[in-house]
Amino acid sequence: MKEAAVPARKTPAELRSARWFAPDDLRSFGHRSRMMQLGYSEADFMGRPIIGILNTWSELNSCHAHFRERAGDVKRGVLAAGGFPVELPSLSVDESFTKPTSMLYRNLLAIETEEQIRSHPLDGVVLMGGCDKTTPGLVMGALTAGVPMIYLPAGPMLRGNYAGQKLGSGSDAWKYWDERRAGNITDEEWQGLQGGIARSPGVCMTMGTASTMTAITDAMGLTLPGASSVPAVDSGHQRMAADCGRRIVDMVWEDLTPDRIVTPASVRNAAIVAMATGCSTNAVVHLIAMARRAGVDLTLDDLDALGRTTPLIANVRPSGKDYLMEDFFYAGGLRALMKQIGDRLDLSALTVTGRTMGENLEGAQVFNDDVIRPLSNPVYHEGSLAVLRGNLCPDGAVIKPAACDPKYHVHEGPALVFDSYPEMKAAVDDENLEVTPDTVMVLRNAGPLGGPGFPEWGMLPIPKALIRQGHRDMLRISDARMSGTSYGACVLHVAPESHVGGPLALLRTGDIVRLDLPARRLDMLVSEDEIAARRAAWVAPPPRYDRGWGWMFSRHVTQADKGCDFDFLERGFGSAAGEPEI
Ligand code: FES
Ligand code: MG
Repeated sequence: MKEAAVPARKTPAELRSARWFAPDDLRSFGHRSRMMQLGYSEADFMGRPIIGILNTWSELNSCHAHFRERAGDVKRGVLAAGGFPVELPSLSVDESFTKPTSMLYRNLLAIETEEQIRSHPLDGVVLMGGCDKTTPGLVMGALTAGVPMIYLPAGPMLRGNYAGQKLGSGSDAWKYWDERRAGNITDEEWQGLQGGIARSPGVCMTMGTASTMTAITDAMGLTLPGASSVPAVDSGHQRMAADCGRRIVDMVWEDLTPDRIVTPASVRNAAIVAMATGCSTNAVVHLIAMARRAGVDLTLDDLDALGRTTPLIANVRPSGKDYLMEDFFYAGGLRALMKQIGDRLDLSALTVTGRTMGENLEGAQVFNDDVIRPLSNPVYHEGSLAVLRGNLCPDGAVIKPAACDPKYHVHEGPALVFDSYPEMKAAVDDENLEVTPDTVMVLRNAGPLGGPGFPEWGMLPIPKALIRQGHRDMLRISDARMSGTSYGACVLHVAPESHVGGPLALLRTGDIVRLDLPARRLDMLVSEDEIAARRAAWVAPPPRYDRGWGWMFSRHVTQADKGCDFDFLERGFGSAAGEPEI
């Protein structure tokens, strides 16, 4: 891109941080004296780009365990390029321990990120994240704040290993748990699996939500090219971190702000890449939310259209068969995958390198065409996700066709409806539960407001009664999300959710439910009169929170099809005047 090739350079006086440090007044005297209190001389920070390193490290985030030392690599790069690095702790939103669900806190990280940047003398930022919600949370906030930014993805952990078997995060936990429930796994084997399934720092190494979201961010042009594929413990990850530090300094001088990078073209590129990688269903919610922060109105229907025409070519679990993210990296990583589908992408999209996506992909190569498949031999002929509509989900629902048994693609069966997770859990463990392989299991009150916080409960466990008969899949429907590492015939994100009176609230056990995936329909075969009568009798459940963050979340969160951002954080909320300058 010509525009990027000859960037106009900012002068030191034009730096945002100069507002804090340059004037000869009492306030700036205070700022400079406090920097000196920190042990810095004026020569360290005056007239240099001040780079915030927003680090989501915490001792309860196993996926970001390497981030304390990795921040040091970023600093090394910033200093080498003549900038001044400052590391700021950010809310870690770990996926494993956060209850009731990390999704309750994605928007808290987004708010924190936006306000950390806005309120501090930062000229540019490096965002350190990776574990599921940290990527959209950091990016959403930084997009709104608007200063130059680079995303530094945590990188996948090494392949799991037990007794010579490769283990995939999440996917194999679910799989072996079903076998344990079927009585096929000993205590000793279970211990071995526990110790082998997560054996290094880094994010889940299946194509779960973490690797999907970092791939999306990479495809959007917000990371260094291919950064999302580098394993967390590879030395290349340290070099990539230092390169982020070096590059962000130049981005500040070039005033390369994220609004020039995140455009309708780059969002579309990201959506296509998501479909081709076998992305997590969670990508739908986060990608819509990120796009809307950039003023790009991405809809479920846009995603469905891209899903129909984009083949899935990353043979990585859970949608693919054999491989994990480490294999994907050795096969050439995301650059190789993007090169493979290059003619479907807008290669003129600008990226953090200051070059176009097309320039970044030059020389990229596939080294293993079973891992990154050619378009002539895809893992699945369509993309990862399909969007359903019908009288059960007028505002949409999503399903992962490649991850479910094809016999459920067109299916009719009686509903078995649960109003809460504990009720459902007790039933699935009941060996005498009346259920057949045709039964459609339904969990409601599990959406953004009902969950609360939109938990990952959507891969409802198969009832023991069916497991013992050898069944491992069945049609399941909920207004919940599911983990990106999950699989099965699970319809998710039913909108509007039942807690706010969506039609799922009106379904009863025994009603016939029909899924027609090729036609993208999900309906209850119940007459309109009967539905109207049930609606008239429906009583809204009480709110889940009456104080604190949960209350604020409940007041402002949007539904799944809108990305679950807070209404007041979305672009376009409030007056055009925006916020006061500091
Ligand atoms: Fe952190 Fe899966 S738990 S990425
Ligand atoms: Mg997850």
